This record gives sequence, C-alpha cells and structure tokens, in this order.
Amino acid sequence: MRTTEEEIRRRRTFAIISHPDAGKTTLTEKLLLYGGAIAMAGAVKGKKNARHAVSDWMEIEKQRGISVTSSVMQFEYDGCCINILDTPGHQDFSEDTYRTLMAADAAIMVIDAAKGVEPQTRKLFHVCVMRHIPIFTFINKMDREARNPFDLLDQIENELGIKTYAVNWPIGCGKDFRGVFDLETRHILSFEGDSGAHTVSQTEVTPDDPALESLIGKDNRAQLAEDIELLDGASEEFDLDAIQSGALSPVFFGSALTNFGVEPFLKRFLELTPPPLARQAAGETVDPFAPDFSAFVFKIQANMNKAHRDRVTFLRIVSGKFTRDMEVLHVQGDKKMRLSQPQMMMAENREVIDEAFAGDIIGVFDPGLFSIGDTICAPSHRLTFAGIPTFAPEHFARVRHKDTMKRKQFVKGVMQIAQEGAIQIFHEPETGMEEVIVGVVGVLQFEVFEHRMRTEYNVEIIREPLSYQYIRWIDGIPADKKPELNITEDTKLVQDFRDQYLLLFTSEWNIRWALERNEGLELRDFSNN
Ligand code: G4P
Repeated sequence: MRTTEEEIRRRRTFAIISHPDAGKTTLTEKLLLYGGAIAMAGAVKGKKNARHAVSDWMEIEKQRGISVTSSVMQFEYDGCCINILDTPGHQDFSEDTYRTLMAADAAIMVIDAAKGVEPQTRKLFHVCVMRHIPIFTFINKMDREARNPFDLLDQIENELGIKTYAVNWPIGCGKDFRGVFDLETRHILSFEGDSGAHTVSQTEVTPDDPALESLIGKDNRAQLAEDIELLDGASEEFDLDAIQSGALSPVFFGSALTNFGVEPFLKRFLELTPPPLARQAAGETVDPFAPDFSAFVFKIQANMNKAHRDRVTFLRIVSGKFTRDMEVLHVQGDKKMRLSQPQMMMAENREVIDEAFAGDIIGVFDPGLFSIGDTICAPSHRLTFAGIPTFAPEHFARVRHKDTMKRKQFVKGVMQIAQEGAIQIFHEPETGMEEVIVGVVGVLQFEVFEHRMRTEYNVEIIREPLSYQYIRWIDGIPADKKPELNITEDTKLVQDFRDQYLLLFTSEWNIRWALERNEGLELRDFSNN
C-alpha cells in the first residue's frame, strides 16, 4: 500500500498540444501502448476518426447518451501514474481545449518536422506560457522529409519566444533517416527502417564505434560530427528550474508512427516533468500534499441526449485524497454534498472509482449545480481557487429567436448554455437579450448550440454570421461606464454578461489602430477570471 504522499508524488498530469495532423493521436496511442493501457494500435485513432464529421458527431453523441470519451486517459508506466488530458483539435477545437490546459501540470508540444510551428500550436502554446508550465517539444515525422533541425529550433525560439534544449539530434530525415544522437548519454540510437509493421529495430552505439559508418553512412557521419560540434558550442545548458518554469523546452526528435524515439522520450519526460503543482486560491497557495481534499471544475460536458438531461463535470484534484463517499463543500453554491458516481477514464473505459489523488481528474454527474472554475473542497478547510479565464472566441454570429412567443425560453437557453461555458454571449450596450452576439472558439460549437436550443429549449434560432475575428477585453482605462473610444467604423463595442466592455475587431490592423489612437488603452485576449 502506498501512502497518500507517495501516490501524489508519482502522478504526472499533462496535455499534448499540436496543430491537427502533427501526430498527437499517434503519439498518445504509442504512450498508451507502453503503459499497457491499450492492447492494439488503432484504438484511439478509430475513435478520433469516428468523431470527425459534424453530422456523425451529433449522431454519436445522441447514441451514446452521455459522452465522457477520451477526456482524460490514465495509465501506469515505470512506477508513475500518468494522466493524459485530451485537448480536442480538428473540428472539436473549442474553448474546452484551452480550459483543459488549466488542469495540466505540463504540456507536450508535437510539431510536424516538415511544417514547423503552426497556428493552433501557437494558440495553445500561448495558454501554457500564461501558466508557466513546463513545455516539452516532440518533433515528429522524422521518417519523412523534414526541415533542417537548426531551423526548426530557431523557429520555436523566435516565434514562440521559448529557449530550447535539444535532448537528442536527428541523423538524416525521410528515406535517409538513420536515427538520433542522444546529447545527454552521447549514444546513437539508430533507426533501421520501417519493416511495414510500424515498429523499427534500433541499435545503440557511441559516435566513435567503428560500426557507426555502416549503420548511418559516411555522409551522415560527417554531418553528425559537424552538428555535434555546433551544438556543443552553441546550445543552451541543461537547467531543470528553467525547464520546470516553462522558460526552456527540452526538444526530442522522433517518429511516432514508426515508434522511434517514443520510449526514450517518455522516460526522460517523466524524469523532468514535475509531480502535481501547487495552485493559487484566494489568500493562500494550496500545496498538493496538503491533507485536505480540494479540486476545481475545468470542464462541463452537456449531454446531447434529450432523455438524459444531466451533465458530466470534470474536476481536477489539487490537493489531498478523494474518497467516494466523502462529504465535500461546493464553495460557490455554499452547499455540502457527496459527489455522484465519481468516474475516471482508463484509456477506453470509464469506471466508478473509490479513491483519487491530487493530480487526478474525476468526472461526476451533475444536475446543473456547477460552473466552470468552481471550487469543491473539504468542508473543514474552505477555500476558493482563482477562476479560469475566458478565452477569446474567434467566430461570431448574431442570434435571435424565430418565434417571438419563445422569448423566455430563448433567454433561458442562451444564458444556461453560456453559463456552462459552451458559448460566450455578448450584447450591444443598452440593448436587451432578444438579440445576442454569440462567440465561439471552434465553429462546431455553433452547431451544438443550435442543436441544443432546438432539442432542450424548443427554440428555433436565426443565426447570422458576423465578420469579426478578434475580441479583446479592455484594460488600462476606466470601463465601469461606457468608454469613449476612437475606433474604426467596423470595430464594435459590446458588453459581456457581467457588463464588462469589450471590442470586436475584423482585423489585426484595426486592433493596432485602436491601440495607437487611444492613450492608455490596453487590450487582452482572455478575461482575468
Ligand atoms: P493529430 O492527432 O495530431 O491530428 O495527428 P495524427 O496522429 O492523426 O496523425 C496525422 C497523420 O500523420 C496520420 O496519417 C498519421 O499516421 C501520420 N503520422 C503520425 N506520426 C507520424 C510519423 O511519425 N511519421 C509518418 N510518416 N506519419 C506520421 P493519416 O494518413 O492522416 O492517417 P492514417 O491513414 O495513418 O490513419
């Protein structure tokens, strides 16, 4: 039996971020295979493909009733208990993807070696930086034609503004990919071709081994010697503090599909990544090893099936130990309760659990009590975690009800769905709720919203797309009353449900225009809570 402290210390909770198609699903699957959590490659992939098309998605959601699919996957490896948080991409990309990062203690950034840093990686990276969590880079698809590795590191440093520390270095790429040189152990792990079974044989040799030339070829050997000299002279020193505070990103090259470099990556990652981090609550820092249980809500998943109105609320445990029948306090509702059917995901299955520890994610059934950012804690130690920011949506539509008789249901539906965090709503100053501006991070959220308004609230809506692409919260000037601003004609001043003022822009050019012409104005792309 492990003590609570030992259980917490061995936990690693992280998210994998990437632009679609960089290889996040493939890498996740390989990690799960190492942990013995799935028996066969393709298990995760199949699920992802099944979720692809919008219409399919609706059907699937309806059929399975309540969806707690791969929100988090837990498995064991090398004595560690690993929680991988799913950050939905592709069409599922939404504000949930950002919020999930609020529950992670580290992130793995997967980059396609041929494409380098791409837009969605950039957005997710930005949220990780805001939290100062460690970010590990896995440069994937080295078995295909790739960009020069020095250029890739330069791009990461220049575009993302994080220093890099190469843990290994590729030898060739594409058809000529011969393996990696581990800069820490000074060994070469050679890649001996993909036999078609998507696993490769690999041999470990030192750079001065006479067998090296026959393994990687003369040219590669010369190139490697040159690269090593350059790296030894110019690359960043290992600095664990800088890694753990997110200032230095350890970089690994590999190929998830052929399973090359994945296990060494996982091992080193587990050594360098921290156990659960402390969190800030009002007036105190909550240590994960503190004896009292505490957790916060980071995601709410509504049921798409009309027959089951309940929702699943996901909690990240911050401190202590959770046991199934324990009494907890929902701080925002000021109510003591027992959590209903606490569940955890084990790769493909979900199970009702008896206990969980700081670092873990649990899903509980919720009749509508919780909101994003809420605190759940031991009644004996009341605390309130700092809320979860609201992230800037990128798609906007003007929405109203088709039938004026349905005004009340319309307002109720819009308010409730917004409160769950599935959409954001804004209105023009001094207007009511008959017509709102709905903002979403991913376009699929519009479809979900429309579907839910129809099935849950019995309201047909009229949705008119708007050409705004950016929304910014106003800072730096008093915003308790309507601010007098010098803005372009196609920039719109709106208010959120807390009546905070925001600006909607059609282009970055307009954002700069506003900043240049309004002294003291500061704009933020997320709200503070
Ligand atoms: P994502 O979750 O980040 O969106 O990416 P995913 O893992 O689905 O990978 C996207 C595509 O890239 C897949 O091909 C996958 O097989 C391929 N891929 C991933 N890692 C590697 C790698 O290391 N080397 C090579 N050569 N390819 C890789 P697909 O054709 O879209 O799907 P599938 O037909 O293979 O299922």
